[in-house]
Amino acid sequence: MKVDVLLGLQWGDEGKGKVVDVLTPRYDAVARFQGGPNAGHTLEFDGKKYVLRSIPSGVFQNDTNLIGNGVVIDPVLFREEAEALCKSGLDLKKTLKISKKAHLILPTHRLLDAASERAKGDAKIGTTGKGIGPTYTDKTSRNGLRVGDIFDNFDEKYAAARQRHLDRLEALGSTPDEYELIDLEGHWLDAIQYIKEYDIVDGEFLVNDLLREGKSVLCEGAQGTMLDVDFGSYPFVTSSNTICAGACTGLGIAPNKIGDVFGIFKAYCTRVGSGPFPTELFDETGKLIRNLGHEYGAVTGRERRCGWIDLVALKYAIMINGVTKLIMMKSDVLDGFDTIKACVAYDIDGKVTDRFPYSIDSDLIKPVYKELPGWKTPMSAMTAEAQFPKEFNDYIAFLEKELATPIAIVSVGPDRTQTIER
Ligand code: GDP
Ligand code: IMO
Ligand code: MG
Repeated sequence: MKVDVLLGLQWGDEGKGKVVDVLTPRYDAVARFQGGPNAGHTLEFDGKKYVLRSIPSGVFQNDTNLIGNGVVIDPVLFREEAEALCKSGLDLKKTLKISKKAHLILPTHRLLDAASERAKGDAKIGTTGKGIGPTYTDKTSRNGLRVGDIFDNFDEKYAAARQRHLDRLEALGSTPDEYELIDLEGHWLDAIQYIKEYDIVDGEFLVNDLLREGKSVLCEGAQGTMLDVDFGSYPFVTSSNTICAGACTGLGIAPNKIGDVFGIFKAYCTRVGSGPFPTELFDETGKLIRNLGHEYGAVTGRERRCGWIDLVALKYAIMINGVTKLIMMKSDVLDGFDTIKACVAYDIDGKVTDRFPYSIDSDLIKPVYKELPGWKTPMSAMTAEAQFPKEFNDYIAFLEKELATPIAIVSVGPDRTQTIER
């Protein structure tokens, strides 16, 4: 068997959580492969809404869920998230497994994240403040603490990491208040004990054993391709590989074990935090999309920047990930528009290109738009492709041609049931 991978093609928040939940019953296991509590994956069903941060979106409909080695875990936030889910009736200690090789976010990583942002001033990345960058930095500089470490001489390893971080904070002019830090650490160390109650596994063996037994696995990405540390809008990116290759390194899966790659995108585009966004709308249309799409961060509540769909960036993302099937989200948000714009090329200094450039300076890039007629029909009550209005089918056909990839699923609302397969 092979694994299928579901990942975001834009700047995150495409609706990954919703679709992973919808697809979960078709798989024997669901595994998160990167990111951490910077993610906020929203699921809605039976009139209830859940936001998952580090826990795979398969937990509501599947008995085997893995937090892979590529994920970074904040024990305090993990505990908060897990306890809320357990309260709602899930038996996570039976259904959730955590890779020994996943790295731990320390309280001082969060302080370093804030200090680093302060030091950058106007050039700040607008991170989620969850300590993601400093934790992955420690991983690649070979200083990180892993979940497996909590069983072996942990106090000593923790003390060394803490001291290193305090030295770094001092260099950044951000020495923390001693009492505040002791308080943070108290909660963190309690949460480390809580994590021990979970099944801590060799994730790479778990996944490969499942495949050998003929079982199916869905890999859940976090963030989106344009936030990938190698191929995103660097340096305004997250610190992990959000792309398909991240599923290989973040779970221990060989490249030849990748099956379908589901690439998920909104019918328009959003971004949170700083950084270039060529199709961003600063006008009333942008505001309208934000209001209609409720484009506010699932965890932070931060306003999401909104704009038209960017096919230059999407084509690039499809190429990097080897997307086999596209999933279009939030079609219903564009219901009321007379016309819908799609960016088909960038005009950079008079040169028109449909290749995503090295330098993505929104001030220099003028999007070249194609305008299409809107469908002016409420999509959210639709249940089958046969009900789609002509203009909507035309929009889909246009995207499929431009992107040379089939759109397999269309989402017309936040609820699990508002999902149409083509
Ligand atoms: P993720 O991070 O990719 O899982 O996405 P988020 O949960 O951060 O953001 C997606 C938001 O859009 C959530 O509030 C979802 O409930 C909502 N959503 C998902 N699909 C649709 C859809 O088709 N239509 C509408 N209107 N909302 C949707
Ligand atoms: P999901 O999985 C949208 C953005 C932050 C910031 C940049 C770096 O819900 O799609 P970080 O805290 O990772 O160092 O921040 O990345 N970012 C996200 N934007 N959705 C996310 O996750 C994001 N996770 C990080 O806003 O610009
Ligand atoms: Mg999100």
